[in-house]
Parts: sequence; C-alpha cells; structure tokens
Amino acid sequence: MAATVIRAIQTAGITLSSVAILTRPDRAADPAQIAVRLGLRPECVRIVGDAAGLVALAPRIVAECASQDAVRAAVPPLLAAGIETVIASVGALADADTLRALCARDTSALRIATGAVGGMDALAAARLSGLAEVTYVGRKPPASWPGGGTGHAVIFEGTAREAALKFPKNANVAATVAFAGLGLDATEVRLVADPGCMHNVHEISFSAGCAKGFFRMEGLPSPDNPRTSLTAGFSVARCVLDSLRPGPHFSSPDLMPA
Ligand SMILES: NC(=O)c1ccc[n+]([C@@H]2O[C@H](COP(=O)([O-])OP(=O)(O)OC[C@H]3O[C@@H](n4cnc5c(N)ncnc54)[C@H](O)[C@@H]3O)[C@@H](O)[C@H]2O)c1
Repeated sequence: MAATVIRAIQTAGITLSSVAILTRPDRAADPAQIAVRLGLRPECVRIVGDAAGLVALAPRIVAECASQDAVRAAVPPLLAAGIETVIASVGALADADTLRALCARDTSALRIATGAVGGMDALAAARLSGLAEVTYVGRKPPASWPGGGTGHAVIFEGTAREAALKFPKNANVAATVAFAGLGLDATEVRLVADPGCMHNVHEISFSAGCAKGFFRMEGLPSPDNPRTSLTAGFSVARCVLDSLRPGPHFSSPDLMPA
C-alpha cells in the first residue's frame, strides 16, 4: 500500500523531497532498495527504527500503512507531538486500550482514511438525522480469508468491534463504517467467502431519518499485496493531499479556476 500512496501523491504533482520510513526494529532495511520499491530517489529516503526517531524528524504528515501493531506503537507518540497522522489500519481502534491511549492525546491531528470503502461522508451526515441500523457485508474470494478454502461460507457474523479484533488484516472497513455510523458495538457485520467474487466487495446499507442508503464498492487488488484493495492506498493518498493542499476537500485542484 505504501508504494501506491507515494506514487499517487507524486502523480498529483507533489514533490516529496524527504520521506522517512519507519521499519520494524527487527528487520534490516536497505534505504536504496526501499527507495526503488517506493519510486523515490535514494537520497530522499531516511530509515527510522521507532516512533521516537520519526518524531525527532518532525515530519509534516505521517501515513500509517502497516498494521494494527504499528498504530498501537507509533500513533500515540506522534499525536502527543502534534504530528498529523493518517491511519489505514483502522481496526486498531476497536481495541479499547488502544483507543484510550490515543484519546489521552489531542486527537485533532488524527485522520481516519476511508480505505477500501466509499460513502462514509453520507453515512456520517445521515447519523445527524438519527441512524436506525447499519450493516456492513464484506465479500472476498475464499483464498483471501485466513485459512483459505474454496467454497461459499459465512466466515463471521457479529459486531464491528468483534470483526475488527478477530480479523485485523481483513476487517478494517468494519471499524471505519462503525466510526462513521453507529459505533463499534451497534454496527452489524457479515464477512463472506464468496467464490463468485473476483475481487474484494464491500456493501454498506443503512437506514436513517433522512435517507436509506446502500453503497457497494468492488476494489481491484493492490499490486503490492493482492489481498488489499487498491482503493485503500489511494484513500490514504487523498487524506495526505487534502492536508497538503488547502481548498475544498474532495475537489480536484486541476478543476479549480487558477
Ligand atoms: N482501511 C482499509 O480499508 C484498509 C484496506 C486495506 C488494508 N488496510 C490495512 O492497511 C495496512 C497496510 O496494508 P498492506 O496491504 O500494505 O499490508 P502489507 O502487509 O502488504 O504491508 C505492510 C508493511 O508494513 C510493515 N509493518 C507491519 N507492522 C509494522 C510495524 N509495527 N512497524 C513497521 N513496519 C510494519 C510490514 O512489514 C509490511 O512491510 C494493514 O494493516 C491492512 O490491514 C486497511
């Protein structure tokens, strides 16, 4: 996902003169190799081994594209330092201790990427009119679920909190929908292994005082990780671009008068 984010930001016309990459402390990291993989000039890349190293560089913005563990370890110190931080591993917030650790800081710098789904703006607006119910159904090819398999199966039915904690790599969307809508314990989730799916499919339905809504998104696979929807990286990139370029969010700067 990180490569998609960086490519999209550069394609949108932003020059990344310095990019710090936080790698796992137990992994040897070669900046030149990482630069090639991410489409950056080697002299632009700095490698840091922990959140303190990242904070010390005072980055303009940080995009987490790693794991729930990374959110737990790195995001509280980044927020404590007032550094704007976009997260992709939204399911981390389903863990009460993690959420408490984040909320102990000023969360005004925290951005939740909409990730692989769309429609979160409409859902969050509809919440203001009173939401009666929100359901998220995630369908993936059977091989994309832990344990694999080939047939049709309902992998999970329950709340968004349970889904995000039980499937840390597969149910970030459940948490995102919950934060936009009815919360982690009132959002109903069904996760399905569906041999009829070529790609990851996300379906959200809600009933509110102002509207009934249904959104469906079929994400093409990321070239870096076919289990990840390509949309997710673009969504993180959009959050970064919205921050770097003031103006009406969601609009394309190319379409605004000079
Ligand atoms: N919000 C969404 O809709 C959505 C969609 C897809 C993926 N995701 C999440 O985004 C994250 C990234 O997805 P991906 O497809 O790029 O995953 P990936 O596994 O392909 O790549 C993640 C990279 O981050 C590194 N990493 C993991 N934990 C780390 C840590 N604590 N510190 C430093 N590096 C760490 C890994 O070694 C790996 O190189 C995952 O958590 C995934 O579940 C969210």
